[in-house]
Amino acid sequence: MKNFVRIAMLIAVALGAMAAIVAAQAVGQVNGISGPAKLNPKANISAAGFPPPYWAYPVNLPDYQAPPETGEKMRVPNSNVTYTLTQIRDFFSPPDWHPEDHPSMPPIVGQGRKPQVWACGYCHLPVGWGKPENANVAGLPEAYFMQQVADFKNGSRRGTVPDILPHSGMVAAIMPTTDAEVKQAYDYFAKTKLTQQRYKVTESATVPKTKVQGSWVLAPIVGGGEGMEPIGQRIIEVPNDPVLTTLRDWRIGFTTYTAATCAASDRCRPSRAARRSTRSVSCTTSRMARVTARGRR
Ligand code: HEC
Repeated sequence: MKNFVRIAMLIAVALGAMAAIVAAQAVGQVNGISGPAKLNPKANISAAGFPPPYWAYPVNLPDYQAPPETGEKMRVPNSNVTYTLTQIRDFFSPPDWHPEDHPSMPPIVGQGRKPQVWACGYCHLPVGWGKPENANVAGLPEAYFMQQVADFKNGSRRGTVPDILPHSGMVAAIMPTTDAEVKQAYDYFAKTKLTQQRYKVTESATVPKTKVQGSWVLAPIVGGGEGMEPIGQRIIEVPNDPVLTTLRDWRIGFTTYTAATCAASDRCRPSRAARRSTRSVSCTTSRMARVTARGRR
C-alpha cells in the first residue's frame, strides 16, 4: 500500500512537471521560438520541489494577453525617445531608451540576424544589465563569457526548466551565431559597465502578493487579490515599476525580498547573500520597525 501511495505521488509530481513544461512550451511557440524540447537529463523531476515554483521561474500565465497595440507613443522618464508597443516588442531592434548609457551597438547586439538570432540587446538590454529572467552580461570576464556561450551551444548548460522561453530563446539565438559574432558581442558587453545598483535586497517577514504579469515579470498584484503574505522560504524579486520594466527601461531597479534573519533579535544581521553584495539592506526586527544596514562586499 505504502508503495502504491509513493508511486501515485511520483506520477502526480511527474504529471505536474509535464503540465508546467507543456505550458512553458506553448508560450514559447506563441512567439515562434521553441527551444530544445527535451528535459534537462540532469533535472531530477521526482525530487521534492519540482517543477520549480512560479516565483523562481516566472512563466507567463496561459491566459495572459499582451496589451494590444493602440498606436500610442510610449515614453519613459528622462528620455526623449518614443516607441509604439510593436517597436518595443521587436526582437530585432531592441528599444534604446537612453542611447547615452552605452557605446554604439554592433549588429549582433542591436539587430541580431533573422530569422533566429534575436538581438542580444533585446533580452540582455542594450546596456547588458539583463533582467531577473535572464542575466547580466555587462563586464563579464572573457573566458567566462566564452565558456558560457560554448556550453549553451554544446548543451552542457541547460536551465532547470529548459523550455521556459527566456532560456530556450537564449539557446535558439546563440546556436546559429558565428565565432566572429560572439566575439563582437563579447567586445561590446566588455565595454558596458554595471553602473547602477539594480537590485536592492530587503529582508522582510512579509512580501506583497505577486503574480507573473507578462514579459516573465513577477510583480505585486494590484487591485483584486492585492495584499501582503508571509515570505516563507522564498526569494521574491519584483520591479520597482513593473510597467516601465515591461517597456524595457533599464534604469528601473528591482527589490529582492529575502527572509529576515533577524526577526527575533535586536541585532539586525544581513543575510549572507546581502553581506556579500554592496546593496543596502533593510531589516525588519521585532523592536525596531526598520533598521537600515549597509551590506559589505
Ligand atoms: C531570448 C532572450 C535572450 C537572447 C536573445 C539572448 N540571451 Fe543570453 N541569456 C538569456 C537567458 C535567459 C540567460 C540565462 C540562461 C540560464 O541560465 O538559464 C542568458 C545567459 C547568457 C550568458 C551567460 C551569463 C552568465 O552570467 O552566466 C551569456 C554570456 C549570454 N547570455 C550571451 C548572449 C549573447 C552573446 C546573445 C546574442 C547572440 C544573447 N545572449 C542573446 C536570454 C537571452
